[in-house]
Amino acid sequence: MKLKDKVAIVTGATSGIGEASAKLFASEGVKVVVVGRNEERGNNVVNNIKDDGEEAFFVKVDMNNRDDMDELFEKTIDKYDKIDILFNNAGMAISGPLEDFKYKDFDNVIHTNLTAPFQMSKKAMPYLLKTKGTILNTASISGVVTHSNGMDTTLQKLL
Ligand SMILES: NC(=O)c1ccc[n+]([C@@H]2O[C@H](COP(=O)([O-])OP(=O)(O)OC[C@H]3O[C@@H](n4cnc5c(N)ncnc54)[C@H](OP(=O)(O)O)[C@@H]3O)[C@@H](O)[C@H]2O)c1
Repeated sequence: MKLKDKVAIVTGATSGIGEASAKLFASEGVKVVVVGRNEERGNNVVNNIKDDGEEAFFVKVDMNNRDDMDELFEKTIDKYDKIDILFNNAGMAISGPLEDFKYKDFDNVIHTNLTAPFQMSKKAMPYLLKTKGTILNTASISGVVTHSNGMDTTLQKLL
């Protein structure tokens, strides 16, 4: 229980890798801030964690909205008074032939997967410096391996 009473913000915790990580953190005694857009799934994750006797709460955040991000940090500090871990995990992928890609979809992927983690990390830094905390980022094999009709392939065609 090396992580007992640490405070972790986990983005994209309403499903998949983020949900599993939030539950794993909680099982190690971490107080978890479950972050995502889907309130129903977010509250389910929180309830699962609380049913196991651990601590968590949900904050609805759209990674395209910096006011949402500010509110997330305010609510986290109000409730837990510190932040030890920021896990930038929220992300998305769109597949398809380059000719079908819409500019707005491309912009959305770049914003969600790249710009938002930068913004979140920057906003978290004052708190993480106080606790000597840490930032975790979910990456992808797509950063080093191309897939047919993946956005990585699309980028290569553009460059
Ligand atoms: N699964 C894989 O094989 C794989 C492989 C390589 C990389 N990854 C990366 O791993 C991370 C998690 O993947 P996953 O498979 O667990 O995906 P997932 O089940 O689809 O979960 C994605 C999470 O990101 C959140 N999210 C997406 N866009 C958001 C936005 N604009 N604002 C706030 N939250 C947003 C979603 O929350 P809401 O639905 O509540 O909005 C959801 O909780 C992603 O970054 C993904 O790119 C996954």
